[in-house]
Amino acid sequence: MNYTSYNDFLKSFDIPEKIEYSEYKSKLKLLAKYGETYEEAKLFVEWANESELWTDELIEDFCQRCYDVFVVSPEMFLQNWYDSHIKQTARQNISGITPCESNGVIDGSKKVEYGRIIKNLFWEDVYSTYTTNSMGLPTTYEVLKKCVEYPFIYRMWKQPSSQKFVAKDKKLNSSLFGILRGASSKASIFNPNTAGYIISNILKSEKLFTPCLGWASYLIGSFSANVKHYVGVDVIPHVVDKCNQLCEEHTSNPFIGDDLKFDFYCCPSEQLDKRHDFIEKYKGYFDSVFFSPPYFDLEVYNGGEQSIESFPNYQDWLKGYWEETVKICYEVLEKGGTFSFVIVPQYQSKKETIYIGDDLSNISKKYFTESGVKQIQWKTQTSLDVAKSGKQKESGNSERLYLFTK
Ligand SMILES: C[S@@+](CC[C@H](N)C(=O)[O-])C[C@H]1O[C@@H](n2cnc3c(N)ncnc32)[C@H](O)[C@@H]1O
Repeated sequence: MNYTSYNDFLKSFDIPEKIEYSEYKSKLKLLAKYGETYEEAKLFVEWANESELWTDELIEDFCQRCYDVFVVSPEMFLQNWYDSHIKQTARQNISGITPCESNGVIDGSKKVEYGRIIKNLFWEDVYSTYTTNSMGLPTTYEVLKKCVEYPFIYRMWKQPSSQKFVAKDKKLNSSLFGILRGASSKASIFNPNTAGYIISNILKSEKLFTPCLGWASYLIGSFSANVKHYVGVDVIPHVVDKCNQLCEEHTSNPFIGDDLKFDFYCCPSEQLDKRHDFIEKYKGYFDSVFFSPPYFDLEVYNGGEQSIESFPNYQDWLKGYWEETVKICYEVLEKGGTFSFVIVPQYQSKKETIYIGDDLSNISKKYFTESGVKQIQWKTQTSLDVAKSGKQKESGNSERLYLFTK
């Protein structure tokens, strides 16, 4: 498996020739929103001169700090990011599933460090995903990239409380990173421990179908469960390739001695039967279906035939993507098998509140019998709660696991 090393990570940044401090200061601009180009952005010094809070001394100090971090040693800044977000250390290695349910609530923060492998393998996808309810915040990758490639500084880093964190210092950088994590767009990731717990303890699955791959986390969770045959589908080719590689590595490891069978398809789930005769192949075969489907337009993933590209209108998406996928799942599940998915109950789209949990559940009820709903409490901050503030933010966010029987 090609895990991301620091050098691989560094290759994704096009660090320019160093310029003199005076040139940098005169060209430094504020990155304020998603997709903003250098030409569109405002000059930092012009902006600061108009603000009463910024004295000449403060402006000079801040520009010097930015120059030191982003021009003198951008590699150190990126190395600090890599070490604390992408590098996988022994502590984050996966070793079994930790039970994480009490009183019907699943604690998604148990073994949250298992998520590091997902970030290592898919950091570019995860950090480049735009989230609609982030109110125009740039993506995490966009901020990192633009600050080292242009004379750009992220608007959130020039607050009085954060200015001093812009420095060549690991500890101070980590405060800067905290602000960036809380104030930029990125995809949510599914803790592999949570996935593994659901698959082994709730579904007790041996023959599992996941109609999307969720950055490989359901597969990685399955490695510690009792799954004998894993069939997965996604539309992003390299996500499918990496899942295949993970399985090949897992099954060839003599210490694991696992006889896991696996099949992956790079195909929209709603098209599986048309393109791959999926129903004929697996009719009544699986004991469980589990996934966290795309959240309509809450998270905008890049690559392949994304469901919102095929169905940009919500009602069309419910019919064309969701209901067609549910129908296929119904056909390939055995009698008594479980259809399950995890989704946020509702979110604020461009103009309206979308009650996605109820909508997906109501369509599922046309085919299956509802057998339960459980709450998953995530502690990490994601697009699911980026719009919250203060205390609300600390309390994390929750999603629901919907369970149905055929
Ligand atoms: C990343 S998951 C959802 C986030 C979730 N919290 C998770 O990680 O489990 C959504 C996946 O659905 C995939 N996807 C989008 N449209 C699809 C379609 N029509 N068929 C199958 N997969 C699709 C995306 O490529 C993405 O990998």
